[in-house]
Amino acid sequence: MKKLKEFEPPKHLLQFDSMDELHQEFLEVYNSVDIHDINSVKEKLTILLVHSKKHFAHEEALMDEFGYLTHKEHKDEHNKVLAEMQYFLNLAQSSFGQKMLKAYYKEKLPSWFDLHLISMDSDLVHFLNTKNKVS
Ligand SMILES: [Fe+2]
Ligand SMILES: [Fe+2]
Repeated sequence: MKKLKEFEPPKHLLQFDSMDELHQEFLEVYNSVDIHDINSVKEKLTILLVHSKKHFAHEEALMDEFGYLTHKEHKDEHNKVLAEMQYFLNLAQSSFGQKMLKAYYKEKLPSWFDLHLISMDSDLVHFLNTKNKVS
């Protein structure tokens, strides 16, 4: 079966091991969905929500430990996507909501992931590397 989202090393590997591992795990769960089965979409998004809480808490602990200046913007972005995931899961009670959930999973979540990695997470890694933080 073709993967919904290919792993693209230049874009998805930021050269910081602990974060790279979390991002790879995210894509593995994301790709394990059967997009034609709404129960599978709900199940995978629920797992991704739990995984993202762990993933974001790890990044936020690094920000706090090393005094990352734009931590508020980055944390706000994390909270926004967690709220969004929960919103679409809640919406999936109706058939309209299920369509919205599927579209969110297929289109918006993966583009959010790419954008977040190439902007905020890359910036955080760059900062950590200047601090000589070992990943
Ligand atoms: Fe991340
Ligand atoms: Fe992040």
